[in-house]
Amino acid sequence: MAEISQSALQSASASPEIIFPPYYEDFYKPRRYKGLYGGRGSGKSHCFAGHLVIRAATEKNFRAVCVREIQRSIADSVKQLIEDKIEAFGLGAFFKSTETEIVGNNGSRIIFRGMQNHTAASIKSLEGMDLAWIEEAQTISAKSLELLTPTIRKAGSEIWASWNPENEDDPVDVFFRGQESPDILVRQVNWQDNEWFPNELRADMERDRQRDPDKYAHVWEGEYRGLSEARVFRNWQEGEITPPENIVWFYGLDFGFANDETAALRCCIIGPTLYIDHEVYELGVPTDALPKFLVKLPQARKWPMRADSARPETIDYLRRHGFPKLRGAKKGKGSVEDGVSFLQGMDIVINPRCANTIREFRSYAYKTDPRTNEILPAIEDKNNHLIDALRYAVEGLHRKGKLLPEAAREEADRLERPSDYRPAESADVEEWKCV
Ligand SMILES: Nc1ncnc2c1ncn2[C@@H]1O[C@H](COP(=O)(O)OP(=O)(O)O)[C@@H](O)[C@H]1O
Ligand SMILES: [Mg+2]
Repeated sequence: MAEISQSALQSASASPEIIFPPYYEDFYKPRRYKGLYGGRGSGKSHCFAGHLVIRAATEKNFRAVCVREIQRSIADSVKQLIEDKIEAFGLGAFFKSTETEIVGNNGSRIIFRGMQNHTAASIKSLEGMDLAWIEEAQTISAKSLELLTPTIRKAGSEIWASWNPENEDDPVDVFFRGQESPDILVRQVNWQDNEWFPNELRADMERDRQRDPDKYAHVWEGEYRGLSEARVFRNWQEGEITPPENIVWFYGLDFGFANDETAALRCCIIGPTLYIDHEVYELGVPTDALPKFLVKLPQARKWPMRADSARPETIDYLRRHGFPKLRGAKKGKGSVEDGVSFLQGMDIVINPRCANTIREFRSYAYKTDPRTNEILPAIEDKNNHLIDALRYAVEGLHRKGKLLPEAAREEADRLERPSDYRPAESADVEEWKCV
């Protein structure tokens, strides 16, 4: 090893504070799993890259693999970052870079892999690793994580993960943040923790902080994407309103199938405001328990209610058991888009007691391209039981997403009644008892 490299290395490893921010102190000690998550520019990648280089330079025959979920070419990997760190530490003469790997004079080796190129058999080639660093770990699949962890099994081996959180149920978040274990060291870090936070990034950060709080929270403060740009609805807030006495209530119902919740809610329109004041939400409600479930919504039997038309036999059952004004929503082509664009045009207020509605409004999101993170013009079909119920409830209030004038709303409502529609005085409403 050249003289200059020797001294640079010694100063680096003897005084880690020179190259690591204070938050990294504990990470410098051995631990089976180490996770750093948070917003952009917090130094996560630099910390792990620097630490990896120091270990490769100081431990004979050290073996490290840098993995990510998808690696189409070596340019997708952290190889360049590691080479930059090697240069910054003055270790250029000690390491040799080839097309695909970095090799040290002491027999150490750093390789780069995409997990999607691995199978249960091929992953065995990683068994001798001292370290696996998963970068962009928010994209790692459960399968990849399950393949990787038992493979990195050498005594004293470590698994590091760095990521910008996307969703609470992403495998890396479940693993590192969803359990407590003495084997796991995990920490959130943001730009404020990075003393080398560069000015170019600071300008971007300030712009987002001022113009787009959702984006700022996700990109820079490391919040889950539920609070971010992919969210379908930003035009809502929690709040309580006392509607006028003669207000017209709209009810919607979405049936749960095997593992889905059954969900219903009621809402009203007050000027430009759509107010949701009650919800019911439960897993595994059998048909004969539906009436008891639905009457938890105030006055649910008195008002018309629209339900998912995919279950006509259940609608029929409910019509005969206390809900004669229930009918199927029309749905049809473009109805999701129209319903969503109608809802996006209202000022939505949700009563705080509707916790599941609030959760769905937070997490209902457009699809994103897993490779580029770009937001796509299609909505993910999840987190939408109460939102579907809401779309059914308001179906008659708009045409192609535009709120109808009040008179037209009443007319449309009347015309849409099925021919066998029975008004509230209908006898079997009174006969029906909720038991
Ligand atoms: N240890 C360090 N030494 C010098 N500059 C650093 C260091 N850590 C971070 N930086 C600077 O901060 C920027 C953001 O760090 P990075 O590791 O890319 O953050 P993250 O991975 O959290 O998005 C880097 O581009 C670099 O300019
Ligand atoms: Mg990074």
